Amino acid sequence: MGEAWIIDGVRSPRGEGKPGKGALTHIHPQRVLAQVLNHLKDRTGVDVKDVEDVIMGCGSGAGDHAMDIARMATLDAGWPTSVPGVTLHRFCGSAQQAVNVAAWGIQSGHQNLLVCGGVESMSRPAPLSTDGFTANNAHLYEQYPLVPQGISADLIATIEGFTRTDCDNFAVRSQKLAQEATEDGRFKRSVVPIYNDDGTLALDHDEHPRPGTTLEGLAGLKPAFEQMGAANPSNDSRSFDQICKAVYPQIDKVEHVHHGGNSSGVVDGASALLLASPEYAKAHGLKPRGRIVMSATAGTEPVIMLTAPAPASELVLKKAGMRKEDIDLFEINEAFASVVLKFLKDFEIDIDKFNVNGGAIALGHPIGATGGMLIQTALDELERRNKSTALIAMCTGGGMGTATIIERI
Ligand SMILES: CC(C)(COP(=O)(O)OP(=O)(O)OC[C@H]1O[C@@H](n2cnc3c(N)ncnc32)[C@H](O)[C@@H]1OP(=O)(O)O)[C@@H](O)C(=O)NCCC(=O)NCCS
Repeated sequence: MGEAWIIDGVRSPRGEGKPGKGALTHIHPQRVLAQVLNHLKDRTGVDVKDVEDVIMGCGSGAGDHAMDIARMATLDAGWPTSVPGVTLHRFCGSAQQAVNVAAWGIQSGHQNLLVCGGVESMSRPAPLSTDGFTANNAHLYEQYPLVPQGISADLIATIEGFTRTDCDNFAVRSQKLAQEATEDGRFKRSVVPIYNDDGTLALDHDEHPRPGTTLEGLAGLKPAFEQMGAANPSNDSRSFDQICKAVYPQIDKVEHVHHGGNSSGVVDGASALLLASPEYAKAHGLKPRGRIVMSATAGTEPVIMLTAPAPASELVLKKAGMRKEDIDLFEINEAFASVVLKFLKDFEIDIDKFNVNGGAIALGHPIGATGGMLIQTALDELERRNKSTALIAMCTGGGMGTATIIERI
């Protein structure tokens, strides 16, 4: 197997993703990604006519995110028409999957120079089919009556016994670490500014964090998914909570512990990394920052949906011939507090190596873009600490997990 070098990576700031509220909401997601692509071009000095593909994740794929957004953004960026683009969908793991796929292309010798990452403007959601994840397929729904992710997150907390206070404590940690990292300028290495069409600055910093978040402040927030849990999808007479109980009869009821303060933030953003073969990089004076060591994907039961980061992490370590003790930093997406608490319970790692600059609860999770951002955050932090290896993992819709191990060069 050849090596896939990470030359560099950049990301937009995460803008608040509520329609009309947030500094990026009025900018088309193609434009956000196009600007990120051009920042990557300018920063690396890469000759973009050599880019063999632009591989981008996107969790939506409809509305303003439709029509192969990777290609459209590459054209919008003004790159040569000879540079193609392809869009991948693995729900929240889409950008991480794009990076993994790019690594395979280079490691296998099929390609030499690729751009990868993802994009999502959550302020522009695509319409959902009536039964959500199963997309109107009654046969599939009978086997797996998938529920919304917030309900799955509450189901994890119920089964694992994570209390509201456990989840809120984790959220306070995320906010505190993100605040320290922001004040220390740790995100500046990867964050690039996004501009309005008239050339004025739209945003140059993450908008979602709530510095000074306290346990007491979170304690007053209403559970976000209680009402939804009592409602039923139009294709089922059972409520979402009853569906959970039917699939997991060991629970009495779903405990609704998640709310806006301990769930990942709804935001807009895009990420892009430049990956090259050592041969191409050496021939063109591109200095590597790291390499992709190994990638893996795992699947778990899809109604509970969000439990695969640990199995994906176990698998990626096994494939790499490494032990968890060999990893200096873990970056596990904070989709919901119960997701990371479950990972920590299953994986038993040193908490001081875990999401050391906070995560999506504080910073936000622009679905199809986040994986690229997590890899950049991990690489930046490895450099800051002069450490070597990081493991990045995410849960995704449909009950899957993505994992990547990177190493500094
Ligand atoms: C949970 C969720 C539905 C909440 O949405 P929301 O109600 O629009 O969230 P808000 O940001 O408005 O926060 C709700 C309330 O909590 C408050 N709040 C949020 N974070 C807070 C914090 N850290 N400290 C104190 N208060 C906070 C807000 O001020 C707001 O209060 P208000 O109602 O008085 O205005 C939304 O965040 C969500 O869906 N997150 C998950 C997204 C997702 O599924 N991603 C995929 C993961 S796999």
